[in-house]
Amino acid sequence: MKPLKITLKTPIEEIQRLRSTAKIYIKRDDLNGLLISGNKARKLEYLIADAKNRNCDTIITCGPVQSNHCRTTVVFAQHFGLECHLLLRLHGKQRKIYTGNLLIDRLLGAKVHYITPAQYDRRNEIMKAYANGLSKKGKKPYIIPEGGSNEIGALGYLDCMKEMKNFIKEEKIEAVYCAVGSGGTYAGLLLGKKILNLNIDLNGIIICDTIEFFKEKIYKICETAIDKFTMGIEIGEDDINLIDGYVGEGYGIPYPAELKTISRLAKLGIILEPVYTGKAFYGMLNHVRKRKYKKVIFIHTGGIFSIFAFAKDITSAIKRTRGVGGKELRE
Ligand SMILES: Cc1ncc(COP(=O)(O)O)c(C=O)c1O
Repeated sequence: MKPLKITLKTPIEEIQRLRSTAKIYIKRDDLNGLLISGNKARKLEYLIADAKNRNCDTIITCGPVQSNHCRTTVVFAQHFGLECHLLLRLHGKQRKIYTGNLLIDRLLGAKVHYITPAQYDRRNEIMKAYANGLSKKGKKPYIIPEGGSNEIGALGYLDCMKEMKNFIKEEKIEAVYCAVGSGGTYAGLLLGKKILNLNIDLNGIIICDTIEFFKEKIYKICETAIDKFTMGIEIGEDDINLIDGYVGEGYGIPYPAELKTISRLAKLGIILEPVYTGKAFYGMLNHVRKRKYKKVIFIHTGGIFSIFAFAKDITSAIKRTRGVGGKELRE
């Protein structure tokens, strides 16, 4: 299947001045575009290509209110002249002032509907019913699942592994790390690892749900992709290495050690966010130490706009580590 390629090729950089026991490289997928950015863009290059091939004119997807996936989908839809409908999970009432990803969704004209957490549990059923409604009005809707995580979206991360292949071999990388939020990124990387026969540990740090939940989901995505695209490889549940212990109190709830990591990395010029990459990076630093790896790659999956939705937590973290500062200048 051919993607609609609009992202930029991303570099792999060594993180200097990190003071870690290992050399840590970072695959800068956060730099693959501006509004079109992060891991969702790689998946959407395939998903939107599929929508176009099927002559669809309307995209429907879902996610939490600050979803990076939803924001990236809106940007893609606009770029390719498609209508975009978002079903966003909202706890309680919407704030009066939009921020972060939601600000961009609204600015770009997405048709937004808020749904409750209980409705979100039935998201696939709800999206189907919503699509039926649009079909009756003459639209040709295409449903993208949460996080763009299915066998088509995962192809984007098979490509990412292909891009890293030579580097992994030349630098003798021992492990690759990524955040796991809906499983598609990890599934694509795993397909790539198997197809390219790479001798690395692929470690996914879960930021919500449970290891069992994601093992099953990732396995299913891989199996469907292997079948559909006749990949000629086999994957077992034992191939899926997931790490728990970094979710904290729950999805999207930051904690002090994570915020400290975000603050520390920002000083080195790398912006992580509190929902995915902050937790995954903090988890990776601990895991690397335990496993005594010497060279690893962290995939920076993007998500910069969500930091604005966490302004309060991040401000407190800055004040804790750097003092209140910002006094008036005395001339
Ligand atoms: C910034 C960011 N990183 C990582 C992830 C996790 O990737 P995946 O959903 O493919 O597991 C997501 C989305 O869920 C994300 O928005």
